[in-house]
Amino acid sequence: MSDQTLFLGKFITQLFRGNPIASIAPSSRWLARTTVRNIDWNSVNTLVELGAGTGPITRVLAERARPDCRVVVLERDPDFARLLRERFGSVRPLDIVAGDVRDLARILSERGIERVDHVISGLPTPSLPREVRDEMFRVVSRVLAPEGTFNQITELAFVYWPLYRRYFERVEFVFEPRNLPPSGAYFCHGPKEVG
Ligand SMILES: C[S@@+](CC[C@H](N)C(=O)[O-])C[C@H]1O[C@@H](n2cnc3c(N)ncnc32)[C@H](O)[C@@H]1O
Repeated sequence: MSDQTLFLGKFITQLFRGNPIASIAPSSRWLARTTVRNIDWNSVNTLVELGAGTGPITRVLAERARPDCRVVVLERDPDFARLLRERFGSVRPLDIVAGDVRDLARILSERGIERVDHVISGLPTPSLPREVRDEMFRVVSRVLAPEGTFNQITELAFVYWPLYRRYFERVEFVFEPRNLPPSGAYFCHGPKEVG
């Protein structure tokens, strides 16, 4: 089964289960590259990818992260997580975790991770329940390095700017017209304290 078919099937089933994955197709290679464009691969030490799906962004991380980096890749859906393990399980820096972002604090603490250079999110962040989103950004604000960023893919250019501004001091948006549909990524700097 192609990634597109698998993804579309998940889009439909998860919609009816009330867990929308918010996209009908995996990110293109263009969007995956754009989403990590601000990472300095020579100096980065620890990355976390949230909501990896079939792994288009994971593939870029696998190609670019040095073997001595730590890269935690989190995915809730068991079929996607199995696919990620098959594809990337043997790639040295990648640690594929089948789990929910609700457990991010525990997942990082079990691995002894206290500092993260960049968090890369393919999650449907605006659709997460408010308490889950707040808790995720609490954890992000605790672990993110001072110059670190929260990078978020989006199909809705600019629409969610105010939402990310609620959690970060500075938010940039980079448009990626070569994705179908045209999409982009938010680059969020300076996490605010979440009440
Ligand atoms: C829009 S898809 C993006 C997939 C991939 N990153 C890409 O760019 O093609 C969102 C992904 O987030 C995962 N996801 C949704 N809610 C999650 C949660 N609470 N914890 C972990 N993963 C979640 C979904 O299973 C899905 O794979």
